[in-house]
Amino acid sequence: MDLYPEAVRPVERSEVWSFLESKIREVMHRYGYSEIRTPILEYTSLIARGVGQNTDIVSKEMFTLERGRHSYVLRPEMTAPIMRSYIQHHLHQKPGVQRYFYMGPCFRAERPQKGRYRQFHQFGAEIIGTDDPRADAEIMTLMSEIFELFGISNQRLRINTLGDSDARSRYRDALVNYLTPFKEKLSQTSQDRLSRNPLRILDTKIEAEQTILEHAPLISEYISKDSLDNYELVKGFLTAVNIPFIEDPMLVRGLDYYCHTAFELEVDGIGAQNALAGGGRYDLLAPEIGAKHPIGAVGFAAGMERLILALNDCEEDLPCGPFTFEIWVIAIGESAHAAAFHVATQLRRSRFRVGMELGNRSLKAQMRLANHHKARYTILLGDQEIINETAIVKDMNTSEEESVDLIHIVKRITELLSHVSTSS
Ligand code: HAM
Repeated sequence: MDLYPEAVRPVERSEVWSFLESKIREVMHRYGYSEIRTPILEYTSLIARGVGQNTDIVSKEMFTLERGRHSYVLRPEMTAPIMRSYIQHHLHQKPGVQRYFYMGPCFRAERPQKGRYRQFHQFGAEIIGTDDPRADAEIMTLMSEIFELFGISNQRLRINTLGDSDARSRYRDALVNYLTPFKEKLSQTSQDRLSRNPLRILDTKIEAEQTILEHAPLISEYISKDSLDNYELVKGFLTAVNIPFIEDPMLVRGLDYYCHTAFELEVDGIGAQNALAGGGRYDLLAPEIGAKHPIGAVGFAAGMERLILALNDCEEDLPCGPFTFEIWVIAIGESAHAAAFHVATQLRRSRFRVGMELGNRSLKAQMRLANHHKARYTILLGDQEIINETAIVKDMNTSEEESVDLIHIVKRITELLSHVSTSS
């Protein structure tokens, strides 16, 4: 998807993206998260081991490139790359837990539809270096605050605990035992998942399968007491800061690295995919990709495009319309080009937002442009002004005009605009 100024659809409008990104940055900084950027290309082996061979992402949706002896992938997500970076740069040696945020493009070879793209953009946050349940609650609080800030009030936070790997493997066996007699009644996708990744069947949107699952064993029956106690703590912290949540024992995530807390934030009306964001704890990702020991970590990621689609429905005040200028410089005739260029540059260097048309448009066309860009003042330079070394400054609100010596133009514009900002 191309993003460009003044696009009709907010999701394609570059001003909307800049606006949202700066707001997200603000919140991330307020919570103490620092930006991390990793390359778009990663080794395929990192993603395969990190995200999991049997996941849809790795088995069906990777854009891979072979080059010499190496296989690379356009990253489908950022958590495994960030953990790789944390291990590679010995970031555990830094004092305290590490809090990172990120924004950037990800790639999944899915069938595109509303809210689902092959190239999409994620923003997210990770806390690395702790298994403290407050970290889980903090991540969900941060995530909810960002969506709340943009006026998305109909968000639903669904949470679950997936326990440790032992609990999950015992549950996996129980689920396969339960579902095998129904195999013929399952869709082809679910039949494939039965052998590869049975927990994902719980995510099914097919009603007949949901009916079959009504009597399926629940993961909570396989979770250890420690895990459940931990889950209680996470829920307690969320309640303490008034973050509403729905417990959903059927919630599993499409990535293999999760243990204990898993969550998803959803909203209606953004297409077939209603997940705005998702995440969870992933203490076992580190040993999977080369660390000697587990490293406590939890995070979330959200889809930027889905956020904008959700905002559409909320009628949030998004930037629209043309870029605005304080001043528009107009040269009438070629003899004024050099002086106009000089004036515009001087004013830009003095920190004003200055627009100027290039080429030889008529005065009328240039005035129309000044209006389009909501310039407060225009500066006109024609033959006579060049001879007199002056310019005409026109107030676009009152149509009043004055002649100003070119040598004093920056000073005069500064006076005029400071008056505008104090009086408005
Ligand atoms: P994920 O659920 O795969 O999790 O993706 C997170 C979000 O990215 C989704 O909720 C959705 O908004 C957006 N998204 C995913 N695929 C697409 C797509 N094809 N088109 C548009 N948007 C999409 C992760 O990626 C984990 N790394 C999250 C995480 C962070 N877990 C721990 N830390």
